[in-house]
Amino acid sequence: MSVFYVPAVNLIGRGVINEFGSHVKELGFKKALVVTDHFIASSDILPKVTKTLEAEGISYVVFEDVDPNPSVKNVEDGVAVLKEHQCDFIVSVGGGSPQDAASCISIIATNGGRPQDYEGVHKSEKKGLPVVAINTTAGTSAEITINYVITDEERKVKMVMVDKNSLALMSVNDPELMLSKPAALTAATGMDALTHAIEALVTPGAYGVTKKLSIGAIELIKEYLPRAVANGQDIEAREAMVNAIFLGGMAFNNAGLGYVHSMAHQLGAVYHLPHGVCCAMLLPIIEKENAKRVPAAFRDVAKALGLQTEGKSDEECAAYAIQEIETLSETVGIPKKLTELDIKEEEFDFEYLSKNALIDACAPGNPFMPTLEETIAFYKELF
Ligand SMILES: [Fe+2]
Repeated sequence: MSVFYVPAVNLIGRGVINEFGSHVKELGFKKALVVTDHFIASSDILPKVTKTLEAEGISYVVFEDVDPNPSVKNVEDGVAVLKEHQCDFIVSVGGGSPQDAASCISIIATNGGRPQDYEGVHKSEKKGLPVVAINTTAGTSAEITINYVITDEERKVKMVMVDKNSLALMSVNDPELMLSKPAALTAATGMDALTHAIEALVTPGAYGVTKKLSIGAIELIKEYLPRAVANGQDIEAREAMVNAIFLGGMAFNNAGLGYVHSMAHQLGAVYHLPHGVCCAMLLPIIEKENAKRVPAAFRDVAKALGLQTEGKSDEECAAYAIQEIETLSETVGIPKKLTELDIKEEEFDFEYLSKNALIDACAPGNPFMPTLEETIAFYKELF
């Protein structure tokens, strides 16, 4: 038996940002805690959200202090604002960070405790406070998933929470909100989405429905990510990427992820690098290893990336898939080595990052479990 989680209501398409308020009103909510970051708060996106709420007579208070890798402090500050203003639901506006912070605020609002209490799998007892998740980037799929990540600043680790009680009630994906996203951010979040789809396709947790969703996501990303990066105003490409992240998000939310994410989380926690860049750099390294163990799983990856797989061996399919991943990464401008990001090999704590990757919540989803020595060797490939 497989359980499939997806928000109860999902608004997708051009202009849906102007309509979500009426759906919220139907649900009877009165006062929103709008969770976002400083960048979105000072852009033209936040006024679009608040205007829609105002039009429906729904009051709100804005909490805009979410950092790029949301921290325990961000969450606890948000919970304090929510309680002070007695909000009965949350509207999260952003990419992964405000979505993740909002998920944790929602869980603590109804369950109490601290973020650290919920690290791991399904640790909360009660459903979180309802969340309306408005996505502004095409990549993380955090608006439709049951996973969220909070950084523990003291331990310098990213805590991964997998919790069905954190699933948003409603997701909003409007490609028009993404037109002004810079090329580098488009590339990074798009490669994060590709990583989700590929990890969800080769994991032993994949099943019929999730496989088809992953394949659809990969096809769209291959065709439209370079276009969205080359011209941010290409609404057709932005819309296709929204569709891709919705498909890929449903896939990994229900099939799981793998070791690319386990290792990427550690790079993000220690060096505060963009999550999508970490994923993109690690993706070919880990998939090369996965292909040695489960080559047959790479037939679908290769086919989705455009290979005519008939008559080809599994190994040929895997080699093609990995080459295509590297080419796509290069086309959209992802760096290959950490030295390009001013990280020095002699200062890199291989053992610390590798030990934390081994116990990351995504690791069990990988087709094989690497050793500490193997993990260190994978990180070394980034120099
Ligand atoms: Fe990711």
